[in-house]
Amino acid sequence: MTTALTRVMTAMRAEAEPARDCALCPRLVEYRRENARDEPRWFNGAVPSFGDPDARLLIVGLAPGRTGANRTGRPFTGDWAGDLLYPTLARYGLSAGTFDVNGEDDLRLTGAMITNAVRCVPPQNKPVGQEMNNCRPFLAARIAALPNLKAVVALGGIAHQNTFKALGLRHGAYRFAHGARHDVAGPNGPLAIFDSYHCSRYNTNTGRLTEAMFHAVFEQASAYVRAAG
Ligand code: URA
Repeated sequence: MTTALTRVMTAMRAEAEPARDCALCPRLVEYRRENARDEPRWFNGAVPSFGDPDARLLIVGLAPGRTGANRTGRPFTGDWAGDLLYPTLARYGLSAGTFDVNGEDDLRLTGAMITNAVRCVPPQNKPVGQEMNNCRPFLAARIAALPNLKAVVALGGIAHQNTFKALGLRHGAYRFAHGARHDVAGPNGPLAIFDSYHCSRYNTNTGRLTEAMFHAVFEQASAYVRAAG
């Protein structure tokens, strides 16, 4: 059996969501504990994916922000990046209801799901290689557990890299480029991976990513999933 196939089959048996108190990464566990000591009312755990179990589109982010997803327990909620991501999902018909930065809302994703390459908040927003390796089986299992999945939007180079690795593919063969689409074989059929610069405060403040550039990726990805059989 090929290594790639073995990885995919292992992922299909693995859990798509880590336990809230996942203990795989000592540095991240310690950071969670520090945050829990300082802010006991925050979520301070491995943040689960959010969205529709029948998703045709999966959005892969980097990792929870300390005062955002790590506080609220929902990806991109309370994070600056969510202020662009969630209205964009609404614009392209991928959500219903209202969005609140504290997650106190009736928001539902429709045909979409959001997850992160690393599920626990990393110090300085920077997970290390071993932490990505530890968390990748969850991403692989998340992808494998979506039977209707047609496309992924990878937010930034790290999400791109981890998505390809989770699929058992050499990411070096698929270079990250904003607006690029890579057609690959997924565990449940063909999969189009769309690359976007991460919608972080840094990228939007420096002009690397504009709202129009972000919308263009979602316009393409949402049209693709609507048309995909
Ligand atoms: N919040 C998340 O959940 N993920 C990111 O990548 C950034 C902010």
